[in-house]
Amino acid sequence: MENPFYISGLIPEEFFCDRDYETQWLVRTLQNKANVLLTSPRRMGKTQLIKHTYAQPSIKDIYYTFYVDIYPTTSINELVLFLSKEIYNVLVPKGKAVLDRFLSTIHSLSGSFGYNPITGFPSFDVKMGDIHSPQLTLEEIFNYLEHADKPCIFAIDEFQQISHYPEKNVEALLRSYIQGMNNCRFIYAGSNRHVLENMFNSAAKPFYNSAEQFYLDCIPKDIYTGFAIEQFRNSQRVLTPDAANLAYDLFEGHTYYVHNLLHNAFAYIDSNITVDKDEINRILDNTLQEKEHSFSSTLSQLNYQQKETLVAIAKEGNATGVTSVAFVKKHSLKSPSSVQYAISTLLESQLLTYENRGRIKIYRLADRFLEKWICRTY
Ligand SMILES: Nc1ncnc2c1ncn2[C@@H]1O[C@H](COP(=O)(O)OP(=O)(O)OP(=O)(O)O)[C@@H](O)[C@H]1O
Ligand SMILES: [Mg+2]
Repeated sequence: MENPFYISGLIPEEFFCDRDYETQWLVRTLQNKANVLLTSPRRMGKTQLIKHTYAQPSIKDIYYTFYVDIYPTTSINELVLFLSKEIYNVLVPKGKAVLDRFLSTIHSLSGSFGYNPITGFPSFDVKMGDIHSPQLTLEEIFNYLEHADKPCIFAIDEFQQISHYPEKNVEALLRSYIQGMNNCRFIYAGSNRHVLENMFNSAAKPFYNSAEQFYLDCIPKDIYTGFAIEQFRNSQRVLTPDAANLAYDLFEGHTYYVHNLLHNAFAYIDSNITVDKDEINRILDNTLQEKEHSFSSTLSQLNYQQKETLVAIAKEGNATGVTSVAFVKKHSLKSPSSVQYAISTLLESQLLTYENRGRIKIYRLADRFLEKWICRTY
C-alpha cells in the first residue's frame, strides 16, 4: 500500500493537502504579470506549493515553468550555471525547435552545450570554468526568457543567497534585467525571511517594491486533520480525530514535522490497529530514537556555551529576550555576551532561526524534532 504522506520528492496531486487559497493567489498574481516574493519558515511547504501551482492547467498549458534552488551557489558563475541548466532541462522534452531557440540565444556557451556531434542527442556539458563572462551569459539567458515562444515563470528558491555572492553588484544587475521584462514572471522564494524582506522592503535596495509578497503559514488545523483522517480511511485504516489533533498540535501544525509523524504512523503501525493518541506518542518516541545518533553527533560538535544556549532556547520553544539578565539567570547561562556570541554561531550553522515581531526577536530551533529530543534529553 502506497504511503499517502510524502516526506520528500514531488507530491502527487491526490496526496497534496489544501493550499487552495495560496495556489489561486499565486496563479492570479502571476497572470496579472506581477512578480512574487514567497517566504515561510523552513519546511512549511514553499517548494511544494510552487510545484503544485505549476501543475495547474491554467499555468501548465500556457507557460514554460522553471524552478531552481540556488542554496548551494556562492557566486554569479554558479547562478548562471544553475539557470541555464534548468532552462535546458525543461526545454529538451519540448522538442528540437524549442531547444534550438534557446541554444541560438546563448552564444557565450555555444561550445559547451547543444547536440552531441556523434549521437545527435542534446547534451549539456557546461562547467563552472566554461563561464568566462557570467554577466554576458546572464544577459543572454534573460534575453531568451523575454523572447521565448511562450510566456515563462521562473522560480528562484533560496533567493537570499545572491546577497552572499562576493560579486557586489548582482542584485542591481538582476534587477536591471528583470524590470524591463514582459514575457517572464519571477517567484523569489526563501526561508530567510529577514534577509529577503530587507532586500524587497528597503528603499535603497535594487529589488525594493518589485514583488507582491506572500508569507506561507501552516495549513489550518481542521483542513489538515480532515485530510489525514481521510488518507487513512482511503486505505481502510483508522486514524482517530484525537490522534490527528495531537499530531498537529505536537508541532503546532508545522507541515513537514506533522506529515513526517503521520508518514511513520502509516508505515510502522499495523494496518488493523486503530491509530489513537497513544500510538501517536509511541511513534514520536520511535522517530526521535531513530534520529538520536545524528542529533548526538550534531551536539557533540558544539562547545559548552553553544550547547547550553541551544538547550535553553529549545526549552523555551519561542525564545525572546535571550540576552536579558532574566533569561541568562533562568537558564543558568554564563553571561548575556556569551549567549549573544553563541547565538550568532548557532544561526550561522542553521541550528537556530529567528523572526522579528515588531522590534522583538524570537529565536527557535530550526529542526522541531531536534527541539523535542533536546527537551527530553537535557
Ligand atoms: N500541501 C502539502 N501537502 C502535503 N504535504 C506537504 C504539503 N506541503 C508540504 N508538505 C510536506 O512538507 C515537506 C516540506 O515541504 P517543502 O519542501 O515544500 O517545504 P519548504 O518550505 O520548501 O522547505 P525548505 O525551507 O526546507 O526548502 C514536504 O516534503 C511534505 O512532506
Ligand atoms: Mg524548499
